[in-house]
Amino acid sequence: MRVLGIETSCDETGIAVYDEERGLLSHVLYSQIPLHADYGGVVPELASRDHIRKTLPLIQQALKEAGCEASDIDGVAYTAGPGLAGALLVGASIGRSLAFAWGKPALAVHHMEGHLLAPMLEENPPEFPFIALLVSGGHTQLVRVDGIGQYQLLGESVDDAAGEAFDKTAKLMGLEYPGGPLLAKLATQGQADKYAFPRPMTDRPGLNFSFSGLKTAAANVIAAEGKSPEVQADIAASFQQAVVDTLVLKCRRALKEQRLKRLVVAGGVSANTSLREQLEVLLKSLKGEVYYPRKEFCTDNGAMIAFAGFQRLRAGQQQDLTIGVTPRWPM
Ligand code: KG4
Ligand code: ZN
Repeated sequence: MRVLGIETSCDETGIAVYDEERGLLSHVLYSQIPLHADYGGVVPELASRDHIRKTLPLIQQALKEAGCEASDIDGVAYTAGPGLAGALLVGASIGRSLAFAWGKPALAVHHMEGHLLAPMLEENPPEFPFIALLVSGGHTQLVRVDGIGQYQLLGESVDDAAGEAFDKTAKLMGLEYPGGPLLAKLATQGQADKYAFPRPMTDRPGLNFSFSGLKTAAANVIAAEGKSPEVQADIAASFQQAVVDTLVLKCRRALKEQRLKRLVVAGGVSANTSLREQLEVLLKSLKGEVYYPRKEFCTDNGAMIAFAGFQRLRAGQQQDLTIGVTPRWPM
């Protein structure tokens, strides 16, 4: 079975071809980041228009790079949510219609399921069951995963997502959108113990997160003294350490409560080097293992959608001819 995957939920157009026997045959990605940079965030209308412009040419390119024709595709998977409604509708309309024209099944994929399964595209894939930490621009979740489609939400952010907190704090420091990776880079030049930022919700039981207070604490310090590059680097390092400490503590708690030793980390923030290093230390101390997607598959991409879609199409699931998206879709 060979599946075409289409990702258009936010500001990246990602297309990929996944083959049951040979694995990932091709993946192409087009980022709209320069398009939105001047606005300091994603402009939904512009995102939809750009996805419309790019999706078919990228599908053509992905097929070519995979060395296959449209007739070699056995199913089409597209992200149907969560995400920006207009952006999702582009991928859903194109994906569902191509499958119809080709006489093949189509499948609406949950974006976070894509992220969650992305580490299974790597050489040493995790075995079920495991705990997944999903950290992106829109979500911060801890999930117990017992198999494809067997997901138990253990905890999530009650306000901002971790990536969102990174981006908003970076914006306050005058960094360009999306600020997360830039703030992380700045943090390498600062001292992480310079400012005592809160580790929200770590002093009480449970696995939920809250990052908006931390962002406000950072905002206050930035407003008061965050002018010079040295101070900015210290703020960035201290802020990042607070986020990482919080995530690591909750991962430890989830692994202990569920008596598991395998942790999967996915979503844009899983590209963060400091988070990776400190989770490595945690899993080593627990004699367990931590699994990540390769860095380019931490952020949004078509490969994870092709893979998640393949798993479900193979299990016999498919979509009717109604084209729909679910911008707010719990996993
Ligand atoms: O998964 P993703 O590409 O899109 C969503 O589904 O949201 O995640 C994007 C998020 C952004 O908030 C971005 O700032 C953050 O991931 N991000 C990072 C890093 N790389 C990406 N945050 C911290 N450190 C990084 N190295
Ligand atoms: Zn994402």
